Amino acid sequence: MFDKVITVNARPNLALVKYWGKRRQGEDCQDPALNLPQNSSFSITLDAGNELLTKTSVVFSEKFEEDMFYLNGKKQDMNDPELQERFLALEKLRKLARTKTKALVVSNNSFPTASGLASSASGLSAMIFAASKALGLEISMEKLSEITRIGSGSACRSLFGGFVVWDRGEKPDGSDSVARQIFDENYWSDLRIVICLTTQEKKKVSSRSGMKQTVATSNLYKVRPAIAEENVRSIESAAKKKDFETFGKIIMTDAMNMHATMMDTRPPIIYINDISKEIIYAVEELNEEEGRIVGAYTFDAGPNACIICLEKDVNKIIRKLESVEGIRNVMKAKVGKGPELLSDDQNSLIDMKELVPVS
Ligand code: PMV
Repeated sequence: MFDKVITVNARPNLALVKYWGKRRQGEDCQDPALNLPQNSSFSITLDAGNELLTKTSVVFSEKFEEDMFYLNGKKQDMNDPELQERFLALEKLRKLARTKTKALVVSNNSFPTASGLASSASGLSAMIFAASKALGLEISMEKLSEITRIGSGSACRSLFGGFVVWDRGEKPDGSDSVARQIFDENYWSDLRIVICLTTQEKKKVSSRSGMKQTVATSNLYKVRPAIAEENVRSIESAAKKKDFETFGKIIMTDAMNMHATMMDTRPPIIYINDISKEIIYAVEELNEEEGRIVGAYTFDAGPNACIICLEKDVNKIIRKLESVEGIRNVMKAKVGKGPELLSDDQNSLIDMKELVPVS
């Protein structure tokens, strides 16, 4: 049964209105492991050519005694608690397929893992998308996003290309907390993202434990979900009108609002660094000089900056950033597609005959 290797490419997504905080067990959440968010979020899927891509091959086979996971060429320890949580999503798929057959998952990221660029999103979405095909499951993308969310919250948005809303939902079982595409990747064709890497280090506090601490200890966080919910509605309407001025303002205020709750956490969580701050000042200065929003910065759980802008202003922004010392690398991205099934056998990261990672 099975033994079919499926290979996909998936891309990270960038939240422009952020998810930071899960619902705790209670009336609206039957189990914290479901990763039910406190608020809806809004993202774009990123396309930076080959630079920000996760390629993943999956195969299920009776030959395997346990699940195996290779990331960037290294066999991972399946006893790692975080990895076990991520594999809950795979378990869910197995249940739907009524099988106990174990899997081999081989995944390669073309960008630094856990550095504030959302590799978990592209990784999880690639794995779940590929695994559902390898199991021969015919389920809707909505259902697949519900399952992916269990492995990593933000990953449920990477199952779609373009502009995506992950609805908070109300149900305690999470069946209505799913992602949906609102516009595809071609909708706002001159939108660009300038990504500034300020570090390649692994972050000190994972988003998982960071957001838990914030929900538990930050006073400011009490008002965050309502603010974020409102920001999702406003950014959706700005995107509908392609009103970049409003779009950009919401991006910056939402990111800073989230980072304020991080800093208000006990003990404080500070993800941005001095270089990030200089980038904020430089973009603010440029916007001031031009008398309009030229660029809109945002930061996830890390110090790398993403600056959203229109194609005509990319060079202006890059020139402005030359005054900031310490930026290690600048990448340009567009709004990208959702996961793609790669049909060519040569693309596989798993040897089709031996069912082992290709060396
Ligand atoms: O779902 P996680 O654990 O990757 O957390 C994502 C958190 C942020 O990247 C900071 C925000 C977001 O919505 O992607």
